[in-house]
Amino acid sequence: MNFWQKNNTPERTAVTLERIPSRRKIGEPERAASDRNPERALGAGQTSAEINFAGLCLTLDPSGAAYIAAQHTLIVSDLHLEKGSGAAARGRLIPALDSYDTLLRLKRAIKAYEPKRIICLGDSFHDRFAGDRMAEADRAALNSLCDLAQEWVWVSGNHDPEAPAFCEGERKDQLEIGGVTLRHEPDFENDGPQIIGHFHPKTSVAAGGYHFSGRCFYASDEFLIMPAFGAYTGGLSCADSAIASLHESKARIFMMHAAKIWRVA
Ligand SMILES: [Fe+2]
Repeated sequence: MNFWQKNNTPERTAVTLERIPSRRKIGEPERAASDRNPERALGAGQTSAEINFAGLCLTLDPSGAAYIAAQHTLIVSDLHLEKGSGAAARGRLIPALDSYDTLLRLKRAIKAYEPKRIICLGDSFHDRFAGDRMAEADRAALNSLCDLAQEWVWVSGNHDPEAPAFCEGERKDQLEIGGVTLRHEPDFENDGPQIIGHFHPKTSVAAGGYHFSGRCFYASDEFLIMPAFGAYTGGLSCADSAIASLHESKARIFMMHAAKIWRVA
């Protein structure tokens, strides 16, 4: 069975929504089972969210990808491929299956939007030896994804200054679409709007007595910060000064969970 024939396996998503019921006080009635439904507490959610960022109309997908229909362009950031094998090499006992998972979810996003161009916005590989560690089947799967679009762009990140040699596609430090700069880390010399990755934003929200958290898109007038797409990537709270200090304008925050997305600010 090859990589693509494994699609009937249950979906494993890197996007998590943590559900932490609040403690019931003494004398407080126990919650009904229907009240423990997280989606009911949080609201219905959307299957995608349309936003305008600096004149670009983007569809924010619950997978963590963003699609610019007018440009037939799909953007993902921070795949961190082979993070698992890197951790395993250092003795951490986690399954080195993240590349398989990440590539499978990326394939689903590509199939859903059928873009002509795919932009990986940096930190696509977890380190400069990640390509050497990648299994042959995952290498083949990655290059077969590249064949699904006319153009594939690897933007350099701080973890991966250059994509491995076996990867098809162009290498760029940054590019521009409709006056918006796309790059991995913010360029503070550039006053224009930027779509970036790097920060792996996460957010949390309280609803119905529960506490939810998940990866998110974070959009102000200055920056649209993409969530990390990779399976084993952690997250940084949007409240952290590293993210909050980037923005002078009020941010719109879209939190993701499985197949849905919620605007929470
Ligand atoms: Fe990253």
